[in-house]
Amino acid sequence: MWIVATDFLAVNREELGRWVRGEPGAFDWSPFIQHVCKIEGRGEPWQDKQRRLRQRLRRILPIDVHLPDPLGAPLHPRADALLSSFCLEAVSPDRASFVRALSHISNLLRPGGHAVLLGALGESFYLAGPARLPVVPLQESDVRDALAAAGFSLRELRSYAMPPALRTGVDDVDGVFFAHAQKALEG
Ligand SMILES: C[S@@+](CC[C@H](N)C(=O)[O-])C[C@H]1O[C@@H](n2cnc3c(N)ncnc32)[C@H](O)[C@@H]1O
Repeated sequence: MWIVATDFLAVNREELGRWVRGEPGAFDWSPFIQHVCKIEGRGEPWQDKQRRLRQRLRRILPIDVHLPDPLGAPLHPRADALLSSFCLEAVSPDRASFVRALSHISNLLRPGGHAVLLGALGESFYLAGPARLPVVPLQESDVRDALAAAGFSLRELRSYAMPPALRTGVDDVDGVFFAHAQKALEG
């Protein structure tokens, strides 16, 4: 099993590459890896998980979810699973564009493959340094409709309201969703 990571921005891909290569100054993901080991509860040393993740992350590619071939060419073989986090709603001007972007990334997934989507509900902007970036505000029903329109069967959808303590002013998000969906089998 190996992993392909993607991002639109070269600076983000370069930062991830520095972490994969273990270069000094790269963002330290170890507290997150330690937390995952803790909640998995298998007693796996976090250093082993980090090493395995670095070994398996073989490629870091540019992506544009607004293209029917988001990677610029079809992926061979197509992926068994796809994870997208706080991306599609943050880069789509409206709900129709969100659905199209979802269909585009679905082209990277094999029939029957699994998608895990995390995203923002009811968000219209977020701040990235001095930039105020627009987001298409989604309701849970928009996520359900988009997945169905893009040919996915919904396996699980959970939504959480943003607690007041996490409303820090860097965005106007109301909540977050976690969706697990499966791409239809062809034929
Ligand atoms: C709100 S950030 C989310 C980052 C990260 N996935 C997370 O969960 O924190 C949105 C991401 O979408 C990327 N992005 C911007 N335009 C894009 C596009 N057209 N296609 C794919 N990704 C894009 C940005 O570079 C950025 O990494």
